[in-house]
Amino acid sequence: MGNEHYFTSQPTSQPAAQKIKAKLRGKEYQFITEAGVFSRSRVDQGTRLLVEALPLPSQGKLLDLGCGYGPVGIAAAKEEPALEVVMVDINQRAVEAAALNASLNGVPHVDIRQGDGFSVVPERDFVVIASNPPIRAGKQVVYPLMAAAKEHLVPGGLLCVVIRTKQGARSLEKYLATIYSRVDTIAKGGGYRVFAAVV
Ligand SMILES: C[S@@+](CC[C@H](N)C(=O)[O-])C[C@H]1O[C@@H](n2cnc3c(N)ncnc32)[C@H](O)[C@@H]1O
Repeated sequence: MGNEHYFTSQPTSQPAAQKIKAKLRGKEYQFITEAGVFSRSRVDQGTRLLVEALPLPSQGKLLDLGCGYGPVGIAAAKEEPALEVVMVDINQRAVEAAALNASLNGVPHVDIRQGDGFSVVPERDFVVIASNPPIRAGKQVVYPLMAAAKEHLVPGGLLCVVIRTKQGARSLEKYLATIYSRVDTIAKGGGYRVFAAVV
């Protein structure tokens, strides 16, 4: 990826697709990943913790915020076929890979969008919003996304977010507690924490 960040909207690095495998919630997946896309050589450990811990409703809408090549939203759609899964990422190459991966893993019905956060996600009736947020983009990007998520959740809805303990988990937890009615730690391990913030 060189000096290019994975949250660039139009990566300029030479495309270099590769296929990786992962077992998530007991099911086997294959993902096409690309240069300039987050965690291209294996499903990230934080992502894995989030996917395994994610409370999945059997119906209604779930948003994968910052979907990358798609592991969170695709695993959710596979697990709960009646769930309406929307996935969004600012990075065009990530979105292209996510679309390929949705078909590759038998969930072509997921709705994948390219854009800056909620600018392309007007819906306000998500039951769950799941995110492995772009921490390297900085608090000035991540915190507004976490706050905006509340406006797109139903009453009682959940924002589930994974963060590396040493990359500001404590501050994020405090920040979420100023906005949401309750914040629980629903998983921890390998230096990561998953918070569930309740509207
Ligand atoms: C830490 S990665 C997680 C990717 C994927 N969910 C996974 O777990 O492999 C964060 C993702 O957020 C995306 N992102 C960064 N800023 C964004 C924004 N403003 N709106 C939407 N997506 C954004 C990045 O392009 C990146 O794919």
